Amino acid sequence: MIQYFQGSESLATAAAAIVAEDLRNQAASGWFSLALAGGDTPIPVYHRLAEVWQNQPLPWLRAMMVPGDERLLAPDDPRRNDQMIREALLQGLPAANAAFLPLLNQWPLTEGEGERAAVVAENRLRAAWFGELTPAGLPRFDLILLGLGTDGHTASLFADSQALAVTDRWVMAVPAPTSATPQVPRLTLTGAVIRAARRVIFIVAGVDKVALAEHILADPQSPVPAARVRAPATCDWLLAR
Ligand code: 6PG
Repeated sequence: MIQYFQGSESLATAAAAIVAEDLRNQAASGWFSLALAGGDTPIPVYHRLAEVWQNQPLPWLRAMMVPGDERLLAPDDPRRNDQMIREALLQGLPAANAAFLPLLNQWPLTEGEGERAAVVAENRLRAAWFGELTPAGLPRFDLILLGLGTDGHTASLFADSQALAVTDRWVMAVPAPTSATPQVPRLTLTGAVIRAARRVIFIVAGVDKVALAEHILADPQSPVPAARVRAPATCDWLLAR
């Protein structure tokens, strides 16, 4: 599904409604799991989604929500994705906080400790996971929300990253990118986990990014990470120039 919207507010309202309805359907059948996009684009989406969930709460004890990636920054750094998610989506929903599992729960990390943090994050996810696993032992998230960088990255999957190629890891550490900010090391769900999800929705705002999304959709062989994590035609694309 590809939908265009006039401006980020109408994109946010529509995206929140789509996410809420999808998860409401999933919750009716039992457990449900969601990976949340980081960065700035999803903030208005999370504000709208918080409003929906205020009025239509979900069975949070049967839910898991995780950031799709995390920047290796101090816990109180506003550039942390988990901080953004708490402020934009969860702060008025105490019950939903119980379903939220940040990827990074250690600080400070010294140089080179990113991989240890990734192993810890993956072990915590595995221990808490209740949903379906693929035959390869990967979690099948019900829904993964993704953003798109102007360099074609998504989550923290950058060009030539090992995290795009591995098939047996849930979470990996990636070095500081040079083509995106903040230029700090990160943790990210792997491309294999994104490929395994039941549904992936890209939320893209801005003329340049929408043009990049259209390029990816027109050329599924595009080398950019967002085209490699999963066949573009199997994702939903919510676009606002
Ligand atoms: C991150 C995000 C990243 C983001 C894109 C777009 O941690 O940076 O997960 O993948 O979605 O960089 O970011 P903006 O929405 O801020 O442009």
